This record gives sequence, structure tokens and C-alpha cells, in this order.
Amino acid sequence: MLIRRIDATRLEDCLALAAGREWSSEPHKWGLLFEIGDVYGIDDPDGGLAGCVVCTRYGKRLSGIGMMLVAEKFGRQGLGTQLMKHAMAEAGTDSTWLTATTYGQPLYEKLGFRSIGDSYIYRGEFRPPAAGVSRAASTKDLEAIAALDAEVFGAPRPEVLRRLPAFAERLVVIQGTGGIRGYGAAWRNVDNTVIGPVVADNESVAKDLISDLAAGTSLPVRLDIDSTHPELREWVEGLGVGRGMRTTVMVHGASLPGDRSRLFLPLSVATG
Ligand SMILES: CC(C)(COP(=O)(O)OP(=O)(O)OC[C@H]1O[C@@H](n2cnc3c(N)ncnc32)[C@H](O)[C@@H]1OP(=O)(O)O)[C@@H](O)C(=O)NCCC(=O)NCCS
Repeated sequence: MLIRRIDATRLEDCLALAAGREWSSEPHKWGLLFEIGDVYGIDDPDGGLAGCVVCTRYGKRLSGIGMMLVAEKFGRQGLGTQLMKHAMAEAGTDSTWLTATTYGQPLYEKLGFRSIGDSYIYRGEFRPPAAGVSRAASTKDLEAIAALDAEVFGAPRPEVLRRLPAFAERLVVIQGTGGIRGYGAAWRNVDNTVIGPVVADNESVAKDLISDLAAGTSLPVRLDIDSTHPELREWVEGLGVGRGMRTTVMVHGASLPGDRSRLFLPLSVATG
């Protein structure tokens, strides 16, 4: 079955595929993924999509893969493996990052991905007292945000950062004497507010950013916290947010670039 790049005109087909696997309908997130990433699909001869995957490429060093979906009726016929191989070959990056469900993990292992940790979804009412130390980012901050982000993420992601002010409901920075000490965003996804990305000098700055972003929404929040930040998990759990689904963080190829100790929350688990 032919794999080809698809555009946002196939959004409804992607949503239907996700619904078939009991994933929620996330049109706002998919809208961004179509803009920043390459979405590959396989047509179902009976209409709609048999499978899809999204690969977001950050220059030559790094790509993130997510939204890997194969319709149940086509399961275990090799479509997932073919989609994955295709996306990786097209990206051609030194490293590929993803977070794997228990369904996907064996497939990725067979393709040479290795586990480097885990990530938990935290979702619920989250009301830490606002730190009140951040301010809304302005266009004048975008250059400093991009510089900090590239250093920490280890690969430039101009496509993401260019769209973040419009995609997110809030984009904030904490100013230090020698420049910004961190930035964070909160964006609306279906019935909750996702906090991320959050990039900060240290954990205390990250918590201040997260607290201020959480204070700006009346909806339940979602945070995806990986095992490099156990203290952040403890803090969030201590404030009453339950641990949800676990995924395995996996890498293919070279070790991840950048300084992951300062990447506190991803934009999403589909993109890094
Ligand atoms: C994960 C998924 C994309 C795999 O697609 P697929 O086309 O069935 O994958 P393949 O046929 O290429 O299978 C490759 C391997 O994956 C593993 N696998 C696939 N489906 C599995 C299942 N239901 N249970 C256990 N292992 C499974 C197996 O190791 C399989 O190899 P095998 O059939 O030789 O044992 C598909 O099951 C799916 O959409 N699941 C729901 C959404 C999801 O979890 N996506 C992954 C996000 S990381």
C-alpha cells in the first residue's frame, strides 16, 4: 500500500483514524502538526486512512515522531513498520525521538529504537499559587526564546517557535538580569490546557513558569513529565494531580542533542 505525504485537507480522516483507536479528537493540535511536520498516510481502499504518522524535523540533527496510528482492521500487517521506516528515511536525521505506547514499543525496538526513560501524562485540576514572576512574551522576546530553546532542545525549531504565539493561549518568559531565564507556553487542547513547552535555567524557574501558566486557565491542565524530572513529578503529584498513562521515551541513532535537564515540558509527546 502506497505511503504518501498528506496535507490538512485530510484532517477529518486523521481524526477518524484516531477515534478508531480511542484517541481523542484534537483538531487544534493536528492543525499545528500539519504546519510544522510531515504527515504521511496510507489510504484505505474503502475510504479514509488505513494509517498515518507525523514526523517533525528539526534540521539535520533531530526529528520527533508521533501520532502513529493504524486502523484496527489493518493491524499486524506491517503498515506501522512501513510508515515508521518511511518517515525516518525521509527525515534522515542523526537522531529520532518518540514516546511509545505499549502497542508501539515492540515495533520501534525491532527498528533499533532504545528506551531512555518514561513519560507520564498528568491531567486534572492543578492550582498552584501563581508565582507572579513571569510576564507575557512580546515579539521582542522571540529571538531570546529561540536562542535559549535551540541551546536546550539541541536543534533549532523555528517552525514551532514562529507559530507558538498564535497557537498558544499564553506565552510567558521570566526575565533575569542577563537575559531570559526561561519561557513557557500553554495551549488549549479539547477540554484541557496543555502546559508546554517549558524551558528554564533550573527547576525553580520552571515551577514558577508552570504556576503562572496554570493560574491563567480555569480548565484542567495536562503536563507530560518525563523521568529526567522526578522532582517535578513529586511537586505536581503533591498538588493533587494524578499520574495517568505511561509511555516509553525512545531514541534511534545518536544520543539526543542539547541539555534535556533544562527541557522541563515538551510542546507535546508527538513532537518533543
Ligand atoms: C502501534 C500500531 C501503530 C502498530 O501498527 P501495525 O501496523 O499493527 O504494526 P506492524 O504490523 O508493523 O507490527 C509490528 C509489530 O508491532 C507489535 N504490535 C503491533 N500491534 C500489536 C498489538 N496489538 N499487541 C502487541 N504488539 C503489537 C508487534 O511486535 C508487531 O510485530 P508482529 O506482528 O511480527 O508480532 C497500531 O497497533 C496502533 O495504531 N495502535 C494504537 C495506537 C498506538 O498505540 N500507536 C502507537 C503510538 S506510539
